[in-house]
Amino acid sequence: MKLLFLILCLSINVAHANEKFSRATALIHLMDNISPEGASRGAVIASPSRSNPDYYFHWVRDGGIAMHAIANEYALSSRNSRNKNRYFEMLEEYAVFSRLNQITVGSNLGEPKFYVDGRVFDGPWGRPQNDGPALRAITMIHWAQTLIQEGQEDYVRKNLYNFQAPSVIPIDLQFIAQHWSDPCFDLWEEMMGNHFYTRMVQRKALREGAKLALALGDQPSAAFYSQEADKISREMEFFWSKKLGYILSTLDSQADSQFKPNNLDTAVILGVLHGDTGENFSLADDRVLATLLRLESEFKNLYYINDLYKLGTAIGRYPEDRYSGSDFNGGNPWVLTTLAFAEIYYKLASDYALSGKPMIMSRRFREKADGFMKRVLFHANPDQSLSEQIYRESGYMTSAVDLTWNYAALLSAMDAQEKSGIHLNKKK
Ligand code: NOJ
Ligand code: NOJ
Repeated sequence: MKLLFLILCLSINVAHANEKFSRATALIHLMDNISPEGASRGAVIASPSRSNPDYYFHWVRDGGIAMHAIANEYALSSRNSRNKNRYFEMLEEYAVFSRLNQITVGSNLGEPKFYVDGRVFDGPWGRPQNDGPALRAITMIHWAQTLIQEGQEDYVRKNLYNFQAPSVIPIDLQFIAQHWSDPCFDLWEEMMGNHFYTRMVQRKALREGAKLALALGDQPSAAFYSQEADKISREMEFFWSKKLGYILSTLDSQADSQFKPNNLDTAVILGVLHGDTGENFSLADDRVLATLLRLESEFKNLYYINDLYKLGTAIGRYPEDRYSGSDFNGGNPWVLTTLAFAEIYYKLASDYALSGKPMIMSRRFREKADGFMKRVLFHANPDQSLSEQIYRESGYMTSAVDLTWNYAALLSAMDAQEKSGIHLNKKK
């Protein structure tokens, strides 16, 4: 019976296995979740799903990641085009909504999520989650930098980085600079401790923040941000386990960490993708590659669908994960983590090609990246919509539908794919 069911799945899925992902479709899916009808302008829902699981909230983390994709689109689109104006409006509304979020929670900037009308979620939850303000700042700074290049510095000074009144970017940066060493919950909202992912994005926010502060003539703040980022860089070294040969995800765990004894987690790879500053633990750091290889070998044997279809490995959050979206009866591979593997391998392919390393390695990385992309496409719904997880037994999409973060992850993986094509062809 199980076999028959699987053969059926195989034939259904194969029907669209030869297509490619469409960038335009991913962007439309993403934008559908920004200021949806009934929500405040500027709110980004994590997913339209309102039960099993209920993701109809503005998560600071997911919102920051989604709007980073929009800030990229804004930077890429041509002046005065209709699309550019639309992205401007979305970013402006997101900035206003974010500033209201900050006011709502006062000094508790690590509050993880808000109702779509802007009220803070006050039920029991893993809080604080201090990666949120960092991701929000990275996105806002990215947009501010583009605006300055375009000659819109006045707009930035008035709305995003104001010297006279509290404004969205400095409020986050001051919080990060003062509180980065506080323990908090991790990006999966499960463990209290000090996390590699959180530190990586905090450091990046401070580095980018220092550059922006300098550009605007705020030297004292720039010095403060740089000094704290330097401290983070030194502290980061403790995440490397020479003995185990991979980067640890959490240190000083305050909760029961027995459920993740190996401390091996795809969060580390996401940390490199969202927080690379070219310092330690950047893409080019061999310790990242070592961690990647170790993670993949763990996941390869974990999920039935990895045996069944000879595609790139479907990747989960961490091997011991039990969260299925509605219960804790078994974890699945996730779309955004599998896409993270695609993206990082495309980036490694480019990095190796640009730094004159053997071309065979670049090509091999690119092939690997393609495998992860094909894996996700294979399990996607026929309309290329993507839920949070891929059911490990059947390959069908499961948990929250149309997860916003997935589309941001897909767009950045596709951009890395395109760049790697250019870099590898140049070297031929
Ligand atoms: C919901 C969180 O979003 C998810 O990441 C986590 O696994 C469960 N709660 C359990 O804490
Ligand atoms: C659960 C994930 O673990 C967490 O990272 C995310 O922020 C929420 N879902 C919302 O998508």
